Amino acid sequence: MAIEWHEDLATGSIEIDLQHRELFERFGKFSAAFDEGTEPQALLELLTFLEEYARTHFTYEEEIQERYSFPGLAEQRKSHEFFMQEIAALREKIETGGPSHELAISLKGKMIRYLIQHLRNDDRKLGDFLREKNS
Ligand SMILES: [Fe+2]
Repeated sequence: MAIEWHEDLATGSIEIDLQHRELFERFGKFSAAFDEGTEPQALLELLTFLEEYARTHFTYEEEIQERYSFPGLAEQRKSHEFFMQEIAALREKIETGGPSHELAISLKGKMIRYLIQHLRNDDRKLGDFLREKNS
């Protein structure tokens, strides 16, 4: 199952939407490698590639929220933290047990659900809020 960014996930903020595309792209690379049975070391490198960008992107969003006193900041922080913890848990599982088929299925379901929900709910609220601030 692939994950692709498309218009109905737009937040209305050009920069945030661009970053989401990049995040999806990195997730897609990692996820495809998992499907192809890539060996653990290479898989972990792709996971790091995803993790680095997730951190950059979340930091960017949280800084904007602080700057504009966005009321949903605490919730966003928690949500971002959840995703980073998922990545960390995944790394540990790959390191200790290797990438199994079951792991691939459960991880993808969970992470894809998270990404879609986070963009549709949390980040859309942020996009609406920013638009109002700037109008
Ligand atoms: Fe986001």
